[in-house]
Amino acid sequence: MRIRTDFLVIGSGIAGLAFALKAAAHGKVTVVAKSAVEETNTRYAQGGIAAVMYDPDTFEKHVHDTLIAGDGFCNEEVVRMVVSEAPERIAELIEEGVEFDKRPDGLFDLGKEGAHSEYRILHHKDNTGGMIQHTLVRNARRHPNITILENHFAIEIITQHHLGEQNITRAKTDIQCYGAYVADLKGNKVITILSPVTLMATGGAGSVYQTTTNPEIATGDGIAMVYRAKGLVENMEFVQFHPTSLYNPGARPQFLITEALRGYGAILINSAGEKFMNRYDQRGSLAPRDIVARAIDNEMKTRGEDYVYLDCTHLDAAGLREHFPNIYEHCLRLGIDITMNMIPVVPAAHYLCGGIKVDMSGRSSIDRLYAIGECSSTGLHGANRLASNSLIEAVVYAHRSAIDAVSRFRSIRLEERVPDWNYEGTSHNEEMVLITQSYREVQSIMSNYVGIVRSDLRLQRALSRLEIIYRETEDLYKKSYISARLCELRNMINVGYLIIKMASKRHESLGLHYSIDYPRRKGTEF
Ligand code: FAD
Ligand code: SIN
Repeated sequence: MRIRTDFLVIGSGIAGLAFALKAAAHGKVTVVAKSAVEETNTRYAQGGIAAVMYDPDTFEKHVHDTLIAGDGFCNEEVVRMVVSEAPERIAELIEEGVEFDKRPDGLFDLGKEGAHSEYRILHHKDNTGGMIQHTLVRNARRHPNITILENHFAIEIITQHHLGEQNITRAKTDIQCYGAYVADLKGNKVITILSPVTLMATGGAGSVYQTTTNPEIATGDGIAMVYRAKGLVENMEFVQFHPTSLYNPGARPQFLITEALRGYGAILINSAGEKFMNRYDQRGSLAPRDIVARAIDNEMKTRGEDYVYLDCTHLDAAGLREHFPNIYEHCLRLGIDITMNMIPVVPAAHYLCGGIKVDMSGRSSIDRLYAIGECSSTGLHGANRLASNSLIEAVVYAHRSAIDAVSRFRSIRLEERVPDWNYEGTSHNEEMVLITQSYREVQSIMSNYVGIVRSDLRLQRALSRLEIIYRETEDLYKKSYISARLCELRNMINVGYLIIKMASKRHESLGLHYSIDYPRRKGTEF
């Protein structure tokens, strides 16, 4: 089966849908999502979306905070662009129907998070992502030019490789994307979707770790697809661990305790009752995430404990319930009344700063292929993302890539020579158990050897263990019918490999990448 469309969008989070709603004014948009349309990282976002709104905040301050958090590794031109375009994109979200909390005087009730020097986080209670996701889905469903295909899994993007061209390398500069092979998971068939323009908006890869705030869908599929198609991927070593997920062994995803709670006055303490963050950084509990996560990791290891505490018992109880109803209810269901009890918290894999390398219009190194949102690497986050800069990056790049794609899609002809998917393969009874086991092994390797603190030896060990699973999985893939779980496993192995390889090459500690073998940043060793 073939579908022809003007814009193929892979992913239904904030990035994919914000692009779709813009492109739909000019042509037919097909959005594919591998699960339910609402099941995205976006839906889980709590703290909010960063933008300069009022005095005394300024663009210059937001730029400065982003550059400092990024540990000097950001692309300053990109930072300036995103920060200065942010307020217009916020105004558009509001026009779409997104509601942000306001104060009694009618101004937005801005929050503050780690490493922000001003109050600039627009939010909807502690459920900002849910509000944004719900609004964009509602509008996309209503739009006559948008078709949403749920439970449709993108397997590969289509390039010259599928026309029989051999020896395509990463150095080749004229690779083109003609669309994607997409498995209809309910109809059990693979569809060829042809499009002049394909947008990758597949989100992050937290699922490659055991403990993560990300939902199961976050398996890095888009990054793996683009890497296999010989597109450029960068900065994968910069995996952000959120300092405060609720300690609840075995829970997937780990429930997030938003940084906004620390912005509201909550304080990290250890089991001895010490406000330990002051020993690590003068900004205390509101230091940048990489610093706070490493400090918690260190406290847990040196004290031999499984978690530290976030204490909000000194804060006004009614205010807590009013501002953080989602967290209050969730913790209460587990027997923790946050107005009276301290919250046990641990760091969890949260966000991938690297990804598919793109320019300021979201163009990847593959022609006709754009990438935006968490699967992309724009240069905004550098070596460590500033809190709440992800949602805003997604909408700024949705706007820019839509302008660019709309300006050219009519001049691009569909590539009709693309063959349909080759269905050869068999199904294996033991397949599911093998896949599930390998899945867990990948997560365990990544968590044990490629986590917050790394070393050459740990990375080497991770690579050699992962290579075994890689060979076994490729073997199974060649013999088997396509299944979403098997494709995800392949993608996770691919993403794990990229994180390990890029971490191994970085002989310094920078932002989120910390190695005990190279504890300093290059140029600062003595
Ligand atoms: P997602 O929203 O993750 O969407 C990915 C989409 O791709 C999904 O529709 C999925 O089905 C689809 N997909 C993936 N692979 C395939 C495939 N193979 N085939 C078809 N479809 C596929 N950021 C902030 O700025 N502020 C916050 O307050 C904040 N809080 C957060 C809280 C939590 C708990 C988490 C997990 C993240 C938070 N983040 C926050 C980060 C932010 O939510 C994400 O970076 C952002 O939502 C990513 O949006 P996206 O559109 O790129 O991807
Ligand atoms: C949070 O609410 O702490 C998450 C914010 C983010 O990841 O940007």
